[in-house]
Amino acid sequence: MATQDELKQAVAWAAVEYVADRVPSGSIVGVGTGSTANFFIDALARLKDRIGATVASSEATRRRLAGHGLRVLDLNEVTSMPVYVDGADEITPRLEMVKGGGGALTREKIVAAVADQFVCVCDESKLVARLGKFPLPVEVIPMARDYVAREIAKLGGQPRLREGFVTDNGNLILDVHGWQIADPAGLETTLDGIVGVVTNGLFARRGADLLLLATPAGVRQIGK
Ligand code: A5P
Repeated sequence: MATQDELKQAVAWAAVEYVADRVPSGSIVGVGTGSTANFFIDALARLKDRIGATVASSEATRRRLAGHGLRVLDLNEVTSMPVYVDGADEITPRLEMVKGGGGALTREKIVAAVADQFVCVCDESKLVARLGKFPLPVEVIPMARDYVAREIAKLGGQPRLREGFVTDNGNLILDVHGWQIADPAGLETTLDGIVGVVTNGLFARRGADLLLLATPAGVRQIGK
């Protein structure tokens, strides 16, 4: 039986093959954050001379990419990016996601917005019929913490401050428990409308385009 790390490794290699096959030489590759993204970064190093550069979705990812000698650009230097590769905390068969377990949701959403294609890399434990078991991260401006928490409670969520954690943007994370999310895109819009919310971890209005899902029987593709 494959371990979870072996599944993450397998899907990371599949994503590097995908980039090697589908992305024109010299392209910019957007890179996500988290343990699966880390396996991807380590595997991507072999394409160092083929890809033009990368854009990182967090400081941790930037350091890891640079450690492999991969060129890392500021997003403002980039006008086109064929692909963004990242993990997820939960993903549905419709490729809506919850992200932000590592707290990098805002930069992830920004880099993904610039990319033509979002390739999600997961092991099979992340595939769910309905989002919400994984607490939904919401990044908030520090002075808005309690106001946003009260507004989320009115919507039926149970927000808990992620203790001792500050995002790369200097903000806080509320992890919202107790939601079975029937309308991910609707809730994404509602949460974005609360003053003081920077970003929420629902990636539904712009979900993934392709899911590479590692299973003990091999890597499955969902989407295109
Ligand atoms: C980082 O903030 C997250 O959005 C990650 O993409 C997500 O938590 C997946 O991480 P793992 O690959 O470590 O499970």
